[in-house]
Amino acid sequence: MTPPRQRGAGRRATVRRHAVLATIPVAAAVLLGAAEAPAAMSTGASGLRDPYYPLSGNGGYHVEHYDLTLRYETATRRLDGTAVLTVHATQPLSRFDLDLHGLEVTGVTVDRERANVGRTGQELVITPHQALRKDQVFTVTVAYNGTPEPVTDPDGNPDGWVPTDDGAFVAGQPQGSMTWFPGNNHPRDKSSYDFTITVPEDRTAVANGVLVGQSTANGRTTFRWRQSEPMAAYLATASIGKFQVEKYTTRDGIQIYNAVDPRQAKASAPVLKNQSSVLEWGSKIFGPYPYRSAGSIVDHAPAIGYALESQGRPVYDSAPDLHTFVHEIAHQWFGDSVSITSWKDIWLNEGFASYAEWLYDEQHGGDSAQDTFDVLYATDADDELWDFPPGDPGSGENLFATPVYDRGAMVLHELRRAVGDTTFFRILREWPTQHRDGHGTTAEFVSLAEQESGKDLGALFQTWLYEDGKPKRA
Ligand code: ARG
Ligand code: ZN
Repeated sequence: MTPPRQRGAGRRATVRRHAVLATIPVAAAVLLGAAEAPAAMSTGASGLRDPYYPLSGNGGYHVEHYDLTLRYETATRRLDGTAVLTVHATQPLSRFDLDLHGLEVTGVTVDRERANVGRTGQELVITPHQALRKDQVFTVTVAYNGTPEPVTDPDGNPDGWVPTDDGAFVAGQPQGSMTWFPGNNHPRDKSSYDFTITVPEDRTAVANGVLVGQSTANGRTTFRWRQSEPMAAYLATASIGKFQVEKYTTRDGIQIYNAVDPRQAKASAPVLKNQSSVLEWGSKIFGPYPYRSAGSIVDHAPAIGYALESQGRPVYDSAPDLHTFVHEIAHQWFGDSVSITSWKDIWLNEGFASYAEWLYDEQHGGDSAQDTFDVLYATDADDELWDFPPGDPGSGENLFATPVYDRGAMVLHELRRAVGDTTFFRILREWPTQHRDGHGTTAEFVSLAEQESGKDLGALFQTWLYEDGKPKRA
């Protein structure tokens, strides 16, 4: 058998590695954070000190809700946006930041009073007319426009608002949300969202959650989408194109909305027809599907080279194969509902979604997970699979590389062998149940596994998650 393909375009990334490294001003980013450190106590930090993306996210507040009104001209690629954020101050704030990459900001108000705005790199620095108290809930309105430019991730992949020949492919992992709306761009903060997106009437704009309105006037159609369950900014999408739309409700009452580029319709039909059955399968193993809506966005943008598990509605750059489809749906539990608090923990997303592929095969007449493990384990010690340990990828460059996906899944298989199937499947269900709509860390997963199994699993996780090189099997 062929081992499961990884989803992060990591193989391509390896090729591009050197060219791209130089464009990421990591050192500059760290310096900027340091320069700001001595500022007044009531200044919200410019980043959340993520080890790989120190400026992602901001300190001092939690965004409860984003209300994004966007207008996109596909012909000129111009975006006009108004973002209204409902924000809870977690400390006194005389000043705070939002993340925004490029675009022109034409006005910012805080509680309807004009605020002072500065920009340094990706930081939109906002000084409200009046300082905010701890626990004050306030509204920030940002008016902005321009031509969104994707960012290039350390692995060489475009990230954010990526124009296509008929619209835009919008996927923001790990940093791209700031290319199309100002916000708290780190998965540690989760919020509900409303989207109002106006596009030329022959285009469809697809965001997360439920479609709550659609109206056409003067050659433009406005789509209103609502994501009520908490969502990390990187999982937001607003993909635009000439799409074929399909809507139905599953037996479990989940509203499906699929949007497919006609050029990918034939190739994706045999996979998309499994939408309800994969959701049902996942719900049986991992616990109830966490959202009221689901679906797929299948774009025609093959240059992108990856898919993303955008919340409730993964976005594919072309017709997915069944493995990729299962992978992105599994992320709804692992990554979307249970979010990481640091990019270093990425294996909690990718290792689990990859292991879901193995389980799907095993339970649908394909290779057993053990077979898949064995094929991977048989690779030479100098294979890229053993390049680095999945619990410590070391930098943003490695976030979506093979060890995170495949060795990440192998961690779970080793756990399964150590605790037995009954306990293992209980752990796999308890994790998304206990952390639903929230967060989880590697340490929390390890302690759940130890608690459920009554075993000391320290050595197993140490070896498989953190040790360099190909582990010896116990
Ligand atoms: N999380 C996505 C997946 O596994 C991959 C995203 C890759 N993004 C990137 N910038 N390389 O399905
Ligand atoms: Zn993935």
